[in-house]
Amino acid sequence: MKKNLKGKILSITEIAKEIFEIKIESELKEISAGQFFQVLCPPKTMRRPFGAAGFENGVLKGVFKLRGDGTKYLSTLKSGDIVHFTAPLGNGFNIESKKSLLIGAGVGTAPLLYLSDVLNMQGIEKYFIAGFRSKEEEIKGADFAQYGGTILDFVEPYIQKFNPEKIYACAPDIVLKKISEIASKYEIETEVALEKTMACGIGVCKGCVIKVIKNGEIQNATICHDGPVFNASEVVWE
Ligand SMILES: Cc1cc2nc3c(=O)[nH]c(=O)nc-3n(C[C@H](O)[C@H](O)[C@H](O)COP(=O)(O)OP(=O)(O)OC[C@H]3O[C@@H](n4cnc5c(N)ncnc54)[C@H](O)[C@@H]3O)c2cc1C
Ligand code: FES
Repeated sequence: MKKNLKGKILSITEIAKEIFEIKIESELKEISAGQFFQVLCPPKTMRRPFGAAGFENGVLKGVFKLRGDGTKYLSTLKSGDIVHFTAPLGNGFNIESKKSLLIGAGVGTAPLLYLSDVLNMQGIEKYFIAGFRSKEEEIKGADFAQYGGTILDFVEPYIQKFNPEKIYACAPDIVLKKISEIASKYEIETEVALEKTMACGIGVCKGCVIKVIKNGEIQNATICHDGPVFNASEVVWE
């Protein structure tokens, strides 16, 4: 259940160019792969959302890219500093015992790091591919990393090589839309973790609504509450 928590920063480390790993110790009891947390970044009042990149022994891990004032604030924190955050938020990936292909792009790789750990722990066979704009921006953890160009060039070759039964992807919408089309051609069940600028983070303000198809009807869904993980075949891509 969602809680407002106080956490202690254990470490903030620049792990790639303008990309930081944050470790927070708190009373958080659980957060699953695909779920996210929102951190207060004063003087901003809207908490900034980040996917859980790991959770072990009560320590929550996130990986964030410098964008604006909120992430700049986080990057200047030191170990021992206190942060206020809300977690766990949203749904998580529906983990199944199926040979899985994980596809990430940029910071979309972050939630897949956690998923990858969970699949490993459960002994589920997987292969993890990720694309980055440059080698300096690589978030380590994937089995195959590509720099420049697009990770889309590698999706079909890896489907053919690895023959996955399930795909999990987190990337910009335009990439996810294409992955969804490729997966549907190969009839592979696919879950996508979506992102949109958020305000409330709990399904109230309707600031993060997307269209989905359920039972043959087009409906509204909020990324923060109904997602951020959706079955790719249900998303109405813009
Ligand atoms: C469910 C969810 C999970 C997320 N997980 C992660 C994560 O694991 N790691 C991570 O680095 N980021 C993640 N994000 C994006 C992250 O929340 C934003 O980068 C952050 O809120 C920016 O805050 P800021 O104050 O630094 O920048 P702002 O001042 O809010 O924005 C600065 C600039 O960045 C742009 N920007 C803001 N948000 C995004 C975005 N989502 N994508 C592209 N451009 C954006 C703005 O348009 C603006 O131009 C996630 C977002 C959502 C909704
Ligand atoms: S951010 Fe308010 S409904 Fe999603």
